[in-house]
Amino acid sequence: MSLMRLGVDVIDLYYQHRVDPTVPIEDTWGAMKELVQAGKVRYLGISEAGPKTIRRAHAVHPITAGQYEYSLWTRDVEDAVIPTCRELGIGFVPYSPLGRGFLTGQYKDAAAISTPGDRRGNFPRFKGENLDTNAKWLEKIENKAKAHNCTPAQLALAWVLAKGEDMLPIPGTRKIHRLEENLAALNVKLSAQDISELDQMADPNGVSGLRYPEASIHTTLVESLERWLPPAPWRAGARPRTIRAKRAGLRSIASLCAWEIEGDSA
Ligand SMILES: NC(=O)c1ccc[n+]([C@@H]2O[C@H](COP(=O)([O-])OP(=O)(O)OC[C@H]3O[C@@H](n4cnc5c(N)ncnc54)[C@H](OP(=O)(O)O)[C@@H]3O)[C@@H](O)[C@H]2O)c1
Repeated sequence: MSLMRLGVDVIDLYYQHRVDPTVPIEDTWGAMKELVQAGKVRYLGISEAGPKTIRRAHAVHPITAGQYEYSLWTRDVEDAVIPTCRELGIGFVPYSPLGRGFLTGQYKDAAAISTPGDRRGNFPRFKGENLDTNAKWLEKIENKAKAHNCTPAQLALAWVLAKGEDMLPIPGTRKIHRLEENLAALNVKLSAQDISELDQMADPNGVSGLRYPEASIHTTLVESLERWLPPAPWRAGARPRTIRAKRAGLRSIASLCAWEIEGDSA
């Protein structure tokens, strides 16, 4: 049905967008590999998986692309995730490379994100004092963009692109003129000195607030379960439920105890 809706016979790149920490990654990737074998998808990608999980998934089926938030204001992937992807030959797809628009300089005050349905208002970095601190932090980047005769959006994209041939950022826009502006980032040339200066300006300690709301930050950079274990009853949100199991060859019914874990919303 999904393929029919998309109007294609096969999906080029199929991602696991979030890792379920309660399911061994081998199970998920075993099922995804079957989709490749059935000819429904060509290549597989993963998003927001931790480095160990990347390795385990890659051992089941080669990962073609790793999609992670990466930009001047979100650099957590630099220490372990990017090196792991590079070692395994996995292409790196920085998502939200414009910091959900913030790095363009167009969303520096609350009024700019007050349109109904603008989800940025839910993100800590766009709230109250965090937003003020981050607007101040952005000034250096904006000045650097002026010095390069480019827009802050172009500079933000040029910085990501300069991080390696394996970087394929996916900036989002609904406007053609912004698409053209963003594409022109390919013409912004940064020297090693520029990159080093930007690295310093983009010190993550200067940015205020979590990159996701507290309720969903735990769905990022997730390591999957090492092996299947019955869910522990003391876990938050667990509630007991009695299930019945029929033992083969016996008439008696054994009562077992299991626990249902309330689903977390991403
Ligand atoms: N894997 C994941 O978990 C995950 C999570 C989030 C996002 N993503 C993906 O990443 C891609 C982009 O992410 P994103 O849209 O969140 O963030 P983004 O690319 O960092 O920023 C997009 C925002 O910036 C604005 N914008 C774009 N170009 C601009 C420019 N030149 N000047 C001023 N404003 C500009 C857009 O507004 P207009 O549309 O009004 O131009 C939009 O609000 C999407 O494909 C999305 O699906 C993946």
